[in-house]
Order: sequence, then C-alpha cells, then structure tokens
Amino acid sequence: MSTLRLNGREVAVASAPTTPLLDVLREEVGDLSPKPGCREGRCGACTVLLDGEPVLSCLLPLGRAVDGEVTTVAGAGVEGPVQDELTVRVQAAFARAGAVQCGICTTGMMLATWALLTEHPQATKEQTLEALVNNLCRCTGYQKIVEAVATLAASGSGEIDG
Ligand code: FES
Ligand code: FES
Repeated sequence: MSTLRLNGREVAVASAPTTPLLDVLREEVGDLSPKPGCREGRCGACTVLLDGEPVLSCLLPLGRAVDGEVTTVAGAGVEGPVQDELTVRVQAAFARAGAVQCGICTTGMMLATWALLTEHPQATKEQTLEALVNNLCRCTGYQKIVEAVATLAASGSGEIDG
C-alpha cells in the first residue's frame, strides 16, 4: 500500500510501485482526466503535474510519484478541490478560443500551459511552442491552442474575465 498525494489530498493505493501512474490514476483512483494516448511517451495526452512540473504519467512509475504532489485537471480549476485561479483561467481561455475538439490532448495541453504560465506569466510564442512541444494534437492544428495561451500571456496570464 502506498500513499499518493493527489490534488491536495492523500489517497491510499494498492498498485505495485512499478505500475505506471497513468494506470493508477485511471484504474485504481478513478481519475480519468489523464488520457491514455500512445503509452510510449510520444503524445503528451497523459500529462499530469508532479510538484508543478509536467510529467508523462504513462512513463512514470507510481514509486517515483509518491514523494511528490500530483495534480490533474480533475483536481484543479472550476470543479476540483484545488481551486487554482490560473487553472480556472486556462480552462476559460481554451474554451473561448475554441481550442478543444475531441479533447484527448486537452488536459495535457492545459497542464503544460499552467506550468508554462506559472514560470513565464507573459510567455512569448516561442516559449509557448517550446512548452507544448511534447503535447500532440491531431484535431486543432494548434492555432487555437496557441491563441488561447497568447490571450493569457498578453494579460500576464489572466486579466480576462473567467
Ligand atoms: S500516453 Fe503518455 S505520452 Fe502518450
Ligand atoms: S483536440 Fe483532439 S487531439 Fe487535440
């Protein structure tokens, strides 16, 4: 039995320490927000935050996550227990820009955006593209995603109305 610090609370998990965090979250904890895409570290759909840094949960064993604080989109923003102002604004900006189609990439994109804007509130386009380079989208052509991030960055990550 391990204890996972997830979205501001402690969760007891029985999965083996070698189990990918993605599977622990989805299959044991029931948090379906990280998406199983390639499961090979190539698409970013499974992105979660570990101590505020984006990580690929399909490649991260549970045993390497238990010492940190894991954040998923399910726990952050409007409906989650982690009522983070920036995450709420990221959600709103993605919705306004029409940056979501099938949604497979979206939670990973949002968490990567959160991490970017936390470090660089006025991120440039180059910083945005670099931050999202590991997150693939097969639907949107990236334009609207980059627009959503640019809207936030232009206002120092959030002077738009939520
Ligand atoms: S599912 Fe993890 S990188 Fe694709
Ligand atoms: S919205 Fe479908 S993969 Fe990005």
